[in-house]
Amino acid sequence: MSTQSTLVLIKPDGVNRGLIGNVISRLENSGLKISGIKILKINQELAEKHYAEHIDKPFFSSLLNFITSSPVVAIVLSGPEAISKTRSLMGTTNPLESAPGTVRGDLGLTVEKNIIHGSANQVDADREINLYFNEDEIISYKRSVDDWII
Ligand code: RTP
Ligand code: MG
Repeated sequence: MSTQSTLVLIKPDGVNRGLIGNVISRLENSGLKISGIKILKINQELAEKHYAEHIDKPFFSSLLNFITSSPVVAIVLSGPEAISKTRSLMGTTNPLESAPGTVRGDLGLTVEKNIIHGSANQVDADREINLYFNEDEIISYKRSVDDWII
């Protein structure tokens, strides 16, 4: 078990549907800790950097239009195996195939408007956290409740 940090985005659909609190509750309830959080509007340049791996996909321009259309909430989430744990809490990419109990399975219906992003692996997590946060915006702290979780 290793302590990790991952980047989460509550995408424009989640923000506009009033699901920020719902999604954050699910993440917090797992025991993972919020070490950074902000609301921002992603510009074209940041979107292209974030989703560079998908540049050749047919959905790339639609994805960029969607992710830049309205604000997102960006979160650095930390704790034991935070990257894979967050991916489990999110559910699979297509909400129609995501298990009930997951963010996408409970709250989404279509593959693009799937509410949440979470880094896929350690390399992506480090890169994505750097895209959205300065070092002084990430706070390392101990919660007394951590002794009951970790
Ligand atoms: P994410 O990067 O947002 O956490 O999602 P993911 O790993 O589960 O899925 P990924 O394959 O990386 O796709 C990135 C996002 O692109 C949109 N998408 N649209 N129209 C389509 O066929 C399609 N496929 C993917 C989704 O918003 C997906 O989360
Ligand atoms: Mg991805």
